Amino acid sequence: MGPSSGVKVVVVGAGLAGLSAASTLVKAGFQHIQVLEAMSRPGGRVHTTRPFGQDIIELGANWIHGQEGNPLFHLARERGLLLEESGSAKTMCLPGSLTPNNYFFEESGRQLPVDEVDQVCAFFRGVTSKAFGSELEPSHSAQSLGGYLDQEFAQSPLGASKVGQRIFEWCKRSECTDEASSSLYEVSAVQLCHYVALEGGFFNCLGPGGYQALVDTLLDSLAPGSVLCDRPVHSIHWALEEERHAHPVSVRCRAGQCFNVDHVIVTVPLGFLKENATAMFEPALPVSKASAIESLGFGTVDKIYLRFEKRFWPDDCDGIQLVWDAGPEDEKVYRYSQSGGGDWRDTWYKKICGFDTVARHPTVLCGWITGREAQHMAGLDEKTVGEACVRLLRSFTGWLVPEPAQVLMSRWGSEPFVRGSYTYPPPGVDAVREHNALAAPLPLPSDAAHSQEKPLQVLFAGEATHANFYTTTHGAYITGIREAQRIIDLYGDKKLDS
Ligand SMILES: Cc1cc2nc3c(=O)[nH]c(=O)nc-3n(C[C@H](O)[C@H](O)[C@H](O)COP(=O)(O)OP(=O)(O)OC[C@H]3O[C@@H](n4cnc5c(N)ncnc54)[C@H](O)[C@@H]3O)c2cc1C
Ligand SMILES: *[C@@H]1O[C@H](CO)[C@@H](O)[C@H](O)[C@H]1NC(C)=O
Repeated sequence: MGPSSGVKVVVVGAGLAGLSAASTLVKAGFQHIQVLEAMSRPGGRVHTTRPFGQDIIELGANWIHGQEGNPLFHLARERGLLLEESGSAKTMCLPGSLTPNNYFFEESGRQLPVDEVDQVCAFFRGVTSKAFGSELEPSHSAQSLGGYLDQEFAQSPLGASKVGQRIFEWCKRSECTDEASSSLYEVSAVQLCHYVALEGGFFNCLGPGGYQALVDTLLDSLAPGSVLCDRPVHSIHWALEEERHAHPVSVRCRAGQCFNVDHVIVTVPLGFLKENATAMFEPALPVSKASAIESLGFGTVDKIYLRFEKRFWPDDCDGIQLVWDAGPEDEKVYRYSQSGGGDWRDTWYKKICGFDTVARHPTVLCGWITGREAQHMAGLDEKTVGEACVRLLRSFTGWLVPEPAQVLMSRWGSEPFVRGSYTYPPPGVDAVREHNALAAPLPLPSDAAHSQEKPLQVLFAGEATHANFYTTTHGAYITGIREAQRIIDLYGDKKLDS
């Protein structure tokens, strides 16, 4: 029996962060690991489903972003879970991956020439990558990404053309899916340089088992019964006095079940923390952490899947993109609706960027929508949303578009244990400082009131706690290992038996 054998750890949340933390601890010889998951399934923001027959549909994460230095990519490759011809997948359209096989339509029904679209998208990509590559002037430091992009575009010859402006608005709307934001005016321009894109392609695809296969791999490394689903944690009591309690932390479930442990690793999404952190921790979280939870952005991205009986788009078409005369991203329209003037709820569908074809599903399209419009859509039923999508497809393309046989949407903004899709840096926020404040374990070394207490009582993992890989699955996975390692190191001086 090694010194770790009696150590009790609860992990809150069975997403990639929670499962990688649990798996890492088990591998290091820890024997009392309990994962508590609020939902009825493990996986969190990984949600692989089969609504249209045998083949998978991903309602959450879809791609592995980058290969080099990406432990999740390596795990997937080692287990043979990647798509064979990974890297050449041609099933999506986001800025930066523009293919000539995307059909861009204007509101008038005119199809835009490929070179006109490509010119504007290439410009957009160029100025955006300056922001990601920390090449901005000091004068941009307080600016939003939207403000910076508008300014650059206005100075370019492309900005003089009406059509160019419309395509540029499409690019901005599409970029919102990467930032999970209502608008790029809510995202900081300079802070984006802290996001680190790993080499090896942004869109690596998983095989027929999808992301669930990775979740299953992690679950297989845990003892049976280690993960309890339908166990929402209601409150976490820490800094308990040692004379009266055998363990410093008590984790209480909503149903009354209580776990007394040495360490708890909290991996709940930032969206959940924004709504619930105040009521969840006793004593309350330190100011640095509470303000990180408040100041970092957590936005919504949703997908709308439409299954048709028959394919109505040409064989070479990988996506149908919608270019509005004036979209919700248009700054004047945006400011107007902010002030309560126009009701964006009536035109929520204008936020749909377009519809992409879907791997393994020749008769399915996937629409993308973000921000407050996505939140609004979550309150509508499938029939209403399907009708809106068909109206758009008919009026923009002029094609004979049949009624969809099936409609399925994600509703990440209204999932009570997620409350959004992923993290972004708002203007004026020191994102690295806030990500790190969110990651710091309790008690904080600087906190005099708790300095005599046991270390590492409450630890934090999850996508939002990584200053460079936030928003990603590998970010989540890496933070789980990071927090497990802190606990392993705490007992590491004494030799563990394995
Ligand atoms: C639509 C969409 C598309 C995406 N696409 C990609 C992509 O292509 N590539 C990519 O890398 N990333 C993508 N992401 C992001 C990626 O899915 C996440 O960054 C990652 O899965 C987060 O993992 P996590 O463990 O940090 O959090 P989660 O997976 O959210 O896990 C946290 C868990 O905590 C649980 N929980 C919350 N509150 C409680 C409580 N009180 N008690 C117990 N349990 C609780 C939740 O139910 C959840 O299961 C996408 C996300 C979305 C929503
Ligand atoms: C989170 O907060 C919301 C709003 O206050 C509340 O309805 C919900 O029950 C809380 N969830 C948990 C698990 O405590």
